[in-house]
Amino acid sequence: MTLVTDPAEPTAPRVAIVGATGAVGSTLIELIEERGLRYRELHLVASSRSAGRVLTVDGAKYEVQAIETFDFSQADVAFFSAGTSVSEKWVPVATAAGTLVIDNTIAFRMDPDSPLVVPQVNAHELDRRPKSGVIANPNCSTIPLVRLLRGVEDRWGIRHAVVSTYQAASGLGYTGVEELQESTLASLNGPDSAFEPEHFKPSLAFNVIPKIDRFLDSGFTLEEQKMLQESRKILGMPHLDVTTTCVRVPVVNCHSEAVYIECHEPVDRAELVEVLGGLPEVTVHDRTDLKEFPTPATVGSSDHVHVGRVRITQSNPRAFWLWLVADNLRIGAALNAFQIAEELLERGTL
Ligand code: A2P
Repeated sequence: MTLVTDPAEPTAPRVAIVGATGAVGSTLIELIEERGLRYRELHLVASSRSAGRVLTVDGAKYEVQAIETFDFSQADVAFFSAGTSVSEKWVPVATAAGTLVIDNTIAFRMDPDSPLVVPQVNAHELDRRPKSGVIANPNCSTIPLVRLLRGVEDRWGIRHAVVSTYQAASGLGYTGVEELQESTLASLNGPDSAFEPEHFKPSLAFNVIPKIDRFLDSGFTLEEQKMLQESRKILGMPHLDVTTTCVRVPVVNCHSEAVYIECHEPVDRAELVEVLGGLPEVTVHDRTDLKEFPTPATVGSSDHVHVGRVRITQSNPRAFWLWLVADNLRIGAALNAFQIAEELLERGTL
C-alpha cells in the first residue's frame, strides 16, 4: 500500500524503511512524523513474519511488505535497520535497482567507497552521491563520542582518549529490551526461577557485562574495535589514539560513556564547557553547577548529546574527564540516519 503524499512535489523522494517493525525502524517513523520529512511514497519493509501488518505514519495506513517481494526500484532512498546479514544480502539488490541506501549496520562502514557520516562532523561527505550507492551510519556509541572529539581536536588537539561505555539493552533492538525485562522479572521471582538468556550472557538482570559483540584475537571486542576504526574514519584522523571498554548495562535506552581525553595543550574548564556547549545539539549540564549531570533515566528520549562531570585532572592540566549520555535509538541510530537524509535533500544529492 503506497500513498502519494504530495503530488504537487514530484521531486520529493520515494522512501523505504527496511526493518520498519524494529526499534530503530519505529524511531525512524517517529522522526518522519516529528520532523516532517518530505516524501512522495513511503514503503515499510520487514521480514515475511511481519508482511501484511498495518502501521500508521502521518495518519495514513501502510501494509508492511516482505523484503523478498519488495521491488527496490520503487524507492529513491532506503534506510536499512534490519541487521547486518539482511544488509549484506539486500543492500546490493537495492543499489543495483538505483536506490541510495543509508545503512545502519556494520556491513559497509569500513568500505572505502561508502562514506561513514555523522552530519555534525563530516556532512561534506554528502556533497556527491557515493560510488557504492551506500552511506553508512556509524555505531551507536561512536556517534556521540566523535561529535565531542571534533570540538576538542579543533581547539586543543587530542593526544589520546580512553572511553568506557555503559550501553543500554535497546542497542540490541526490541529483542534486547524484551530480554532485559524478562530476565529482571525472573530474577525478582527468586534465584530458582528458570530463565535462559538468549542474547545477553550471562543474564543482564542486575548485572553488567563487559562484552558487546564478539571477541577478537586482540582481546578487544568487535564493538570496541568499531569505536576505534569508525572514529578514525569519520574524523579523518587515521592515527587517532582512542581505546575503549564497552559494557552492557541493565538500562532500557540511552548509552552513557565515561571519556578521558589528554590534549596537546593545557585545557581551561570554563573554555572547555563553552566549546562543548557550542557544538551543535549538545547540552552541557554542569556548565554552572558542578553537581548537575545527565543520566539515561533523566535524559529520556532526546535529540541532544548530554554532557556532565566535566573536570580537568588534578595531575595533568592537559587532560580531562567528561560523562556523556545519548539516546542510542535516536542519536546513535535513527536520528543520525535521518539527518543524513535531511542533508542529502538540502544538497540536492537525493
Ligand atoms: P520483523 O519484525 O518482521 O522480524 P529489532 O532491531 O528491534 O529487533 O528489529 C529488527 C528489524 O529487522 C525488524 O523490523 C525485523 O522485522 C527486521 N528483520 C529481521 N530479520 C529480517 C529479515 N531476514 N529480513 C527482513 N527484515 C528483517
